[in-house]
Amino acid sequence: MTIEIKPLPVDERKTCPKEFSFGVTFSDHMFTQNFDENKGWHDAMVSPYHAISLDPSAAVFHYSQEIFEGLKAYRNINGGINLFRPEENVKRFNRSAKRMVMPEVDESLHLAAIKSLVKLDQEWVPDQEGASLYIRPTMIATSPKLGLGASSQYSHFIIAGPAGSYFKGGLTPISVFVADEYRRAVKGGVGEAKTGGNYAASLFASEEVSKLGYSQVLWLDAVEGRYIEEVGAMNICFVYEGKKIVTPMLSGSILPGITRDSILKLAPSIGYEVSEQKLDIEEVLADIDNGKITEVFGCGTAAVISPVGKLGFKGNEHIINDNQTGPVSKHLYDELTGIQYGTREDKFGWIVQV
Ligand SMILES: Cc1ncc(COP(=O)(O)O)c(C=O)c1O
Repeated sequence: MTIEIKPLPVDERKTCPKEFSFGVTFSDHMFTQNFDENKGWHDAMVSPYHAISLDPSAAVFHYSQEIFEGLKAYRNINGGINLFRPEENVKRFNRSAKRMVMPEVDESLHLAAIKSLVKLDQEWVPDQEGASLYIRPTMIATSPKLGLGASSQYSHFIIAGPAGSYFKGGLTPISVFVADEYRRAVKGGVGEAKTGGNYAASLFASEEVSKLGYSQVLWLDAVEGRYIEEVGAMNICFVYEGKKIVTPMLSGSILPGITRDSILKLAPSIGYEVSEQKLDIEEVLADIDNGKITEVFGCGTAAVISPVGKLGFKGNEHIINDNQTGPVSKHLYDELTGIQYGTREDKFGWIVQV
């Protein structure tokens, strides 16, 4: 299947603003295609960004049959555009689709759609330091029927918008509250799928912890409330004695992050040991307090690396590395962003140029 391109006339295109907030400004075009049982995927098109009209009975509104992804296009030092491991995003998109009983997309078409959109909207890939064009592939169930069951019609679309540097003025540690009362995802549930319901389920606890002055929630497993899973929109890593990076093993209820996977592959090549383990919250907090854990950081597409300076749990606060960004977090941030922006060699073949 080919992708039809219907560009906006050049004189109707907007210019990317110099100042922008994440997630509220979108580029001139979007990709769309539709699915139904008879035709399969059809009408693949890049056309001007537009509102979508849906029947109020559309399945997505009632039973949350929805998946999405998040990746970025970076303006590289030569003025070209880099995507970071986009094929991993589309594989995860298809794993999420399978889990949510949605039709998989053709991987090469999805990648071609991202490339066509970014190429057409290349003026929207910012060149300010640390900025990027955030790309949001999404699939929703559109059958107009209330009966509970998988939809037979779907819409797949991709939109994009500029994202500023996550950290203004250097890496700044965040504070994280360990959820004791609430759980994000259960064993056997949909925690490892990137589906909207997981995020809706996390909002209540996020609101509660922000009232306590924390910026993120750290989730524990839902069976024993004991093992560390992940942060709101990031995986989490613990640095032991400045040299060993430990992250919770994938449990089925954690989103398998592409940044997490990149750290597990990159860190051994720059002198660190890595390990995926079951991590007991009480043992981790004891190791923070006795100094064995020297750094904690979240990792994900949005911030790449987000140092954690403070962990709150059951009324106690545990301060990590004097609430300062540590050397391992900084080292990994520099290496990963260096690959993304083309200032470091792409030893792993992670970059796809647009
Ligand atoms: C719940 C959750 N965990 C982890 C991540 C990190 O994943 P990635 O590194 O692929 O962005 C994200 C972001 O997508 C997320 O939403």
